[in-house]
Amino acid sequence: MFNKYYTKMKRSIFFSIFSIFLILSACRTKPDKSPYTITQNIIGDSCMVVAEHPLASKVGVKILKAGGNAIDAAIATQFALAVVHPRAGNIGGGGFMVVRMADGETAALDYREEAPSSAYRDMYLDSTETVIELLSKEGHLAVGVPGTVAGMEAAFQKFSQLKNWGQLLEPAIQLAENGFKITQPEATRLNKYKKQFFQQNETGVPFVIKGQWEMGDLLVQKDLAATLRRISEHGAKGFYEGETADLIVTEMKRGGGLITKEDLQNYEVRWRDPIISEYKNYRVITMPPSSSGGVALSQLLKMIEPFPLAQYGFHSAKSVHTIVEAERRVYADRSKFLGDSDFYPVPVDSLLDDDYLKIRMADFDISEATLSDSMGSGNFKDVESFETTHTSIVDAAGNAVAVTTTLNLNYGSKVIVAGGGFFLNDEMDDFSAKPGVPNYFGLIGAEANAIEPGKRMLSSMTPTIVEKDDDLFLVVGAPGGSTIITAVLQTILNVVEYGMPLDEAVEAPRFHHQWLPDQIKVEPTAIDTVERQILWDMGHQLKGVSRMALIKAVQVLPDGKLHGVGDPRNVDDHAEGY
Ligand code: GLY
Repeated sequence: MFNKYYTKMKRSIFFSIFSIFLILSACRTKPDKSPYTITQNIIGDSCMVVAEHPLASKVGVKILKAGGNAIDAAIATQFALAVVHPRAGNIGGGGFMVVRMADGETAALDYREEAPSSAYRDMYLDSTETVIELLSKEGHLAVGVPGTVAGMEAAFQKFSQLKNWGQLLEPAIQLAENGFKITQPEATRLNKYKKQFFQQNETGVPFVIKGQWEMGDLLVQKDLAATLRRISEHGAKGFYEGETADLIVTEMKRGGGLITKEDLQNYEVRWRDPIISEYKNYRVITMPPSSSGGVALSQLLKMIEPFPLAQYGFHSAKSVHTIVEAERRVYADRSKFLGDSDFYPVPVDSLLDDDYLKIRMADFDISEATLSDSMGSGNFKDVESFETTHTSIVDAAGNAVAVTTTLNLNYGSKVIVAGGGFFLNDEMDDFSAKPGVPNYFGLIGAEANAIEPGKRMLSSMTPTIVEKDDDLFLVVGAPGGSTIITAVLQTILNVVEYGMPLDEAVEAPRFHHQWLPDQIKVEPTAIDTVERQILWDMGHQLKGVSRMALIKAVQVLPDGKLHGVGDPRNVDDHAEGY
């Protein structure tokens, strides 16, 4: 008995010290001054763009001012991010876009990467059937067939108001051609990954310089500018065919990658029906498979709905316990049932069925944690995973776009297409390389997410739009790997259950549980000491982390104005509106 108490006390003391350390180190690493004026919390009269780099948000606003709608702005912002945010903004990756037009029409665009045609289930296993570390994460074999450029063209063809593709590309071309001043986080990241850039690439790439990068240095990307020009002139064919395709295939051959010309030519986006679910008087419009994000978010909201969270209190042990127990069950479902619905019969309707979700919570005990370990074990790495990027946009007509895009890990596979000037993704790691073996984000998968040629790897990206009483209310999403889903959930709950203004809702510290490993990841100050101890006593394991996910959101206020908020966890997040 004493030993048990002593162990708990030790854990609790360790956790407190760790939290203080994280707060102090976060304070120390804050850069002195950005080359840009950053705004993370503003009110606009009619338009708003929130993205992960000030120059990208400004490009979006410029397109809105030129008469473009939210989709035009999203496309131009995406291409700008491919230049100014090379770790995640991309043309060599993929993503998802959720649209809600002012008239209520909704759409979900899947431009996720696909496994190349010669990919196969055990391609990352050695002769003893052990996963070969790094093979799916770095280098040419990690690369899935990119979807971003096809995605932007499809969005343009369906929804553009400006109807001028070249105009949407031009700001990105200028930024690549003339260069832009890098921020402190970018300088730090480019220096950090220098060795990997050298390992994966011939010399002469713009991201590698002799010395160290410093804030304010100019990053010029001539090859990328030329690639963007080909896309500007020929549309998606400027990427999937001709010179760019040749450069990609040559790069693949150089490093033993699998993508062929046919893989590029055959890539197609998918327009899908968004997942739409109700939560009280809110309607949540979000991304279906090949992302798990929308199914998981909708399951979570439905499972939590019957519990009086506001009455329990913000981040009280009782409310954290309730949310965590729902998360545990939802991430367990994710690992078994979720994958690319074009290849595997994902039981979306059953997973979202009210009766199923009631049964799923039937063994929930308000006073005790359910243990996950009977279901296998995970291995969640202590990493800050913000490699994806999200943009939230609302235009003057009330059209809204939530778009999340990624190369997977920072700078993807670290492979830069020689002569093309852009990073290729390492999205193959989002497949389940072997049933039960966790990927980078500690997520476990099975048959539903096994590798097959042409299949899309399961994602956690959760671009989401919320209506209140049938009107546009919230546009939200984030980078953050497996923590995206729970960060989007908490942002919504903070606004609708705890009545926080959007800036407080985004800033509020977060927690996360993903079934395996069986622990609640907790940002510093997210749960106070007394409540933490109650959670330990209930049987939960708590683990301190510095920060999770970087929300970008726009809320429509009661007077019709727009509240745009970037995440203070990321100094480069920028909200711009008018
Ligand atoms: N690559 C991270 C995700 O799609 O969830």
